Amino acid sequence: MNEQAETSMEYKLAELDSRLEKVRGGGGPERVEKQHRAGKLTARERLDLLFDPGSFTEIDPFVRHRCTEFGMAEVEAPGEGVVTGYGRVDGRIVYAFSQDFTVIGGSLGEMHARKITKAMDMALRAGAPFVGLNDSGGARIQEGVDALNGYGEIFFRNTISSGVIPQISVIMGPCAGGAVYSPALTDFVFMVQGTSQMFITGPQVIKAVTGEEVSMEELGGAATHSTVSGVAHFFAEDDRQCLQMVRRLLSFLPSNNMEDPPFLPTGDPVEREDPALRGVVPTDPNRPYDVHEVILPLLDGGDFLEVHARYAANMVVGFGRIGGRVVGVVANQPRVLAGCLDINASDKAARFVRFCDAFNVPLLTLVDTPGYLPGTAQEYGGIIRHGAKLLYAYSEATVPKITVILRKAYGGAYLAMCARALGCDQALAWPTAEIAVMGPEGAANIIFRDDIARAEDPARLRQEKIREYRERFANPYVAAARGYVDAVVDPARTREHVARALEALAQKREARPAKKHGNIPV
Ligand code: HXC
Repeated sequence: MNEQAETSMEYKLAELDSRLEKVRGGGGPERVEKQHRAGKLTARERLDLLFDPGSFTEIDPFVRHRCTEFGMAEVEAPGEGVVTGYGRVDGRIVYAFSQDFTVIGGSLGEMHARKITKAMDMALRAGAPFVGLNDSGGARIQEGVDALNGYGEIFFRNTISSGVIPQISVIMGPCAGGAVYSPALTDFVFMVQGTSQMFITGPQVIKAVTGEEVSMEELGGAATHSTVSGVAHFFAEDDRQCLQMVRRLLSFLPSNNMEDPPFLPTGDPVEREDPALRGVVPTDPNRPYDVHEVILPLLDGGDFLEVHARYAANMVVGFGRIGGRVVGVVANQPRVLAGCLDINASDKAARFVRFCDAFNVPLLTLVDTPGYLPGTAQEYGGIIRHGAKLLYAYSEATVPKITVILRKAYGGAYLAMCARALGCDQALAWPTAEIAVMGPEGAANIIFRDDIARAEDPARLRQEKIREYRERFANPYVAAARGYVDAVVDPARTREHVARALEALAQKREARPAKKHGNIPV
């Protein structure tokens, strides 16, 4: 081509196209095919599914690494192994990165990290959520400390952005070593069954150091992290379902901490009564039931996005709407461990409460708990400090807090489930509520111990005293007489009561003393 042609606009545009085409091709057709064979979509296919069709704008496609060690000078890495940019999800701007495993295994070097941190900075400045699609062999080994520094730059921004913009991590491939800490610092972690793994040290290192034999999937797969460790909040069957779930989660969240969550009238009348709710709580106080039977009828269209559905199932948390307003639901689950609070349930609920408070999501707490789970495992595991997190999180929260006591609300667990003293704005109780220091059995054993011991028929007297205590305290009216409970309501009309409270509290403002930050027990 002659000199004049090379300076022409057509030539320059053709050059631009060919450069872009190269970047979009990632690691080439063979590696793309390998990615597909592994059951994974490519970085760009994932972004297409995450964002509204055609709305993604890429930034930094031409960034290149500067590494010359170990033959890297000759290694071309289209896009530096990561695609970054912004697009729309249900019409709202969201920023994202998507690691490209077909380019040097999606490994993270200096410039790969710089693309990510630039997008993070842009998201924070724009007040838009940030989503990270992770699929990477970890720190790019040839880049040494530059790669490590890159992770540090990401961790720092995850922390600074925490509580300002929602941050979501989606694990869609390997995520090992210190790389797991960026997801762990974000608000929600999604994992895909069979293709994603997270661990600090892999199976080979574990075998060498401790002798334990464990597969990658068993050690750090989606099932493990969504049931055993609680690292993952959401479990998906495949990439496609996972990205749909991310979009659904975003539909409940505000773009940043200065906004309210999106209001979405659903046409479901708030006055809708549900007589079935009168029969959910069994008359026998020791019989369990599924608290979902209470949650779903209360929400618009029965639409509930459960968070951590497979972890610490004695506590249920998640998002829904009442009268179009987003609420964060926190509920004891009597069907699992009788709804006792334990270490994992406290951690799970405390983190959820803090997220809701940071992002202006009102809290609806449904209480039916006999107390804290007894046992040395709990005590030695630090239930004292873990349980304290829930008290702290509720006390600290200034969003509207509405509590409905369905049945048991005993002892410290009564307080921990957002009792009036922790700043609850409206405390409602069903007629089945039992609010006391402890259950009637335990209480009768202690306060009537001597009488029972001296009785002719101790068993009969014990039953009588249990009944006496139950009649006296196992009801909502003692608490209502003191104003700890604002109203005792017909279960069938709970939705309307909660909707009215939410409306009345919509403009709630609560100031707290100035401080650098609190010191939640961790
Ligand atoms: C450089 C890497 C890489 C890495 C993968 N690749 N990981 N290159 N640095 N970390 C390259 C491979 O050499 C290969 O290149 C290509 O990516 C695809 O990888 P495969 O091994 O062919 O893929 P697969 O068989 O699916 O195995 C994936 C894998 C494996 C399990 C992730 O690649 C692996 O074990 N990688 C190393 C993982 C690791 O130890 N990372 C460091 C973790 S420590 P070619 O050209 O051959 O196709 C860490 C610290 C972070 O990340 C600290 C933060 C504080």
